[in-house]
Amino acid sequence: MSEGIVTASYVGATILFILALGGLSNQETARRGNLFGMIGMAVALIATMSGVTANLGILIVALLIGSSIGLVLAKRVQMTQMPELVAMLHSLVGLAAVLVGFANFMDPERLTHYAGVELTIHDIETYLGILIGAITLSGSIIAFGKLSGKIGGNPMLMPGRHFFNLGLLLGSLYLCKMFVEESATGGGLVPLLIMTGIALLFGIHMVMAIGGADMPVVVSMLNSYSGWAASATGFMLNNDLLIVTGALVGSSGAILSYIMCRAMNRKFIAVIAGGFGTTSGGGSSASVEEQGEVIAIHAPEVAALLLESKEVMIIPGYGMAVAQAQHIVNEITKTLRAKKINVRFGIHPVAGRMPGHMNVLLAEAKVPYDIVFEMDEINDDFPKIDVSIVIGANDIVNPSAQTDPDSPIAGMPVMECWKGATTIVLKRGMATGYAGVQNPLFFKENTRMLFGDARTSLDEVFKNL
Ligand code: TAP
Repeated sequence: MSEGIVTASYVGATILFILALGGLSNQETARRGNLFGMIGMAVALIATMSGVTANLGILIVALLIGSSIGLVLAKRVQMTQMPELVAMLHSLVGLAAVLVGFANFMDPERLTHYAGVELTIHDIETYLGILIGAITLSGSIIAFGKLSGKIGGNPMLMPGRHFFNLGLLLGSLYLCKMFVEESATGGGLVPLLIMTGIALLFGIHMVMAIGGADMPVVVSMLNSYSGWAASATGFMLNNDLLIVTGALVGSSGAILSYIMCRAMNRKFIAVIAGGFGTTSGGGSSASVEEQGEVIAIHAPEVAALLLESKEVMIIPGYGMAVAQAQHIVNEITKTLRAKKINVRFGIHPVAGRMPGHMNVLLAEAKVPYDIVFEMDEINDDFPKIDVSIVIGANDIVNPSAQTDPDSPIAGMPVMECWKGATTIVLKRGMATGYAGVQNPLFFKENTRMLFGDARTSLDEVFKNL
């Protein structure tokens, strides 16, 4: 392929990636966005491979092995394990950046290609690529461990940890100076190796200090880091497409982290500094302290309440994903709408275990998009709601986020369903949610608990409708 065609392909792939991001911002266009992304990646791979002259066979075998592993993983992974998979994939981006950085540094022709200021710039690019890549690598592995419950969700808070971090940062700066000086005379491997060790340690320490409840922000932050690592690698390799794609991933990950911090009422810097979400995350634990009596309800009564109402709000959470109840939710919605009952869905920005988790499930069950609303769009409507159905959600409907300043979720905006006439909560028992705190909503006078697996309970409700 001529250089002109390769450049044109890179521009085409960049445009396709931008269109992909644009498409993914809305569920109606998300499928198309994904398609653009896939075509863009195919174009990028073909254009890049066309420039490879030696060892093309090895490259193709590696590609086939990599894509087969990716295909099997993507087919096997449960929707609820998606954040873990994403964290693991970020670690691979970090590893790639580190390996490419070292390979580039060890290239015997490096000193013949670059000299003087050019060499210094090239060395700094290599150094940054390895630094960000190593932080992403170890940070993502720890994030994977925390999300999958293999490492405890509690933040590990070392005394003087901010000074420790500062020490690591200053050490890295000093090593950068050493590396640049030594590299001009053919050395530099030792400072590069020490810095890699420091960066790996920093990644581990940074994510270990972040509590379970803040893990979603960490995953998108590592997504952002993996983009910047790729971008630095792009500068090092003089590859425009890698620079632009890395910057797109880096900035979209940073924007997503910001949006999630806002949704959870956290300050980004405070999340990174660690220490929040001090209670165990990653799954339900047994009930903490009881706060009075709960009133149970049964499926026939729920069906009767629904049929009497005019305005129904459905609030799905992580438990809907676990129970795979989205299809029966859609059947119930269709039945109620056929009876002229206004049914809407309220989606909290961090419901479930990944951004857009609930939207994906509802889209899969073919719930019409025009009755699915973001929290900000419908939170003021609850006083007019006759029945709210909370399906396997807990933290996102916890009023203590507004009333208890000591709660790990204090200040997180929540769905104010208790302001409606009746709230029906579907869950299996009195276990806490991700943040590990009890929920006063369950003990309110206008709340009714429908105990059991959400899908089984909703099947019963549907039969009674
Ligand atoms: P959670 O607070 O985790 O509550 C889920 C509830 O579902 C649990 O209390 C559990 O109670 C119930 N449940 C589990 N399996 C069920 C089943 N088969 N049938 C019925 N109920 C079931 O979920 P949420 O309200 O969606 O809040 C999300 C939380 O996850 C937030 O704290 C958020 O910060 C965090 N988080 C979010 C993300 C993103 S980006 N969305 C990523 C990581 C973490 P029982 O065990 O009693 O049934």
